[in-house]
Amino acid sequence: MSQDTVTLIDNATGKKYEFPVQHGTEGPRIIDIRKLYAETGMFTHDPGFTSTSSCESQITYIDGDKGLLMHRGYAIEDLAEHSDFMEVCYVLLHGELPTVEQKNTFVSHVTNHTMVHEQMFNFYRGFRRDAHPMAIVCGVVGAMSAFYHDSTDIRDDRQREVATFRLIAKMPTIVANAYKYSIGQPFQYPDNSLSYAANFLQMCFQVPAEKYVVNDAVARAMDKIFILHADHEQNASTSTVRLAGSSGANPFACIAAGVASLWGPAHGGANEAVLNMLQEIGDKSNIEKFIAKAKDKDDPFRLMGFGHRVYKNTDPRANVLRGSCHEVLEKLGVNDPLLELAMELERIALEDEYFVERKLFPNVDFYSGIILKAIGFPTSMFTCLFALARTVGWISQWKEMIEEPGQKIGRPRQLYTGYNKREYILLNQR
Ligand code: CMC
Repeated sequence: MSQDTVTLIDNATGKKYEFPVQHGTEGPRIIDIRKLYAETGMFTHDPGFTSTSSCESQITYIDGDKGLLMHRGYAIEDLAEHSDFMEVCYVLLHGELPTVEQKNTFVSHVTNHTMVHEQMFNFYRGFRRDAHPMAIVCGVVGAMSAFYHDSTDIRDDRQREVATFRLIAKMPTIVANAYKYSIGQPFQYPDNSLSYAANFLQMCFQVPAEKYVVNDAVARAMDKIFILHADHEQNASTSTVRLAGSSGANPFACIAAGVASLWGPAHGGANEAVLNMLQEIGDKSNIEKFIAKAKDKDDPFRLMGFGHRVYKNTDPRANVLRGSCHEVLEKLGVNDPLLELAMELERIALEDEYFVERKLFPNVDFYSGIILKAIGFPTSMFTCLFALARTVGWISQWKEMIEEPGQKIGRPRQLYTGYNKREYILLNQR
């Protein structure tokens, strides 16, 4: 028997079936079961997709045991230290680091698309002022397909390219103005003389009455947060974008689906939940009580910002952010007791048998909230910032899927446990 197959033995019938095994450039071997149903009449059952590869991809690789994350072969630590978000966008989309000229052209294309259709501001006005900014972002991104008809034909290369530029360029404008709307301040236009991160900050914090001077250290920290959230393989929101896109839906609709999926507290909503949790703990003396709650199976409480489906050693993004956190707070002269509380919580949890046994470590969301709070963002904005940064990852993965020859609609099956066929009883006889 060849080494590159696995044999499935059906104990009920004694029949044997052979399936090919595929080797990626990294990662575990993969059993190719595409012909399983045709050959055996059986499905596989894997809710939560804990053992399922849903696609072939060349964009991002994670080794959860080693705590490794790389985009197009470049380690996240190197990108966070030496690169900037625009370059990371280019690498994710095109697969290679840009030359100086390629980077300038890319930045210029993105910069040309930062404004949103003026009519979109009327759309914002339909929301209640106290709406969660994620609700507004989700709605406004979805509405982009109603404003930019000329980039919704997914089979047209040029339209896909324009939609990509539009999404990356307009997300900061959309997110910043969701914030402005929620706090009752006037909408703010982009300033194309600034970098991507600095422009976003000015749109969030500038008011017509007073100029906001962007602090370089803050802009760099913002840029780093964007880099660290740019892509993360086939997570829930990315898989949502791919699934929505597999039916041929336009890119704006697909990214809106990604925003919706990201919102949940088990995914992107965790950064907001971490800060709320730290505030609820309030003092180091309460840590033990909350750790006990997290370990209690009868209590739904979980330590937010801890654990990850893939990382079972360390989340490299959390390591970068822990360092950044100290740096930003020091530069801004902020002395946030929540940082000390977070570090103490991390120390105690990492020594606790429950967390050690289950390989639960701080994830990217554990420290990002403290930095965002120091910059001046309210917690309700945290997940919107994640969505802004992840847009490039979503669109890169969507593009890769659409450009794949023989791309198919995603259509999982199920283990049906409902009623067998039964008689319909007329209403007057029930
Ligand atoms: N606090 C307490 N216990 C936990 C936690 C936690 N944060 N995370 C996992 N566990 C326990 C869980 O109860 C289970 O215990 P047992 O084996 O005794 O039943 C075990 O660890 C394995 O957990 P799981 O739920 O099977 O793991 P999962 O891979 O399905 O979930 C997770 C991963 C991230 C949803 C989960 O760890 C979690 O809810 N963490 C808190 C939320 C969070 O921080 N999310 C952000 C993830 S990183 C950003 C992103 O990618 O969006």
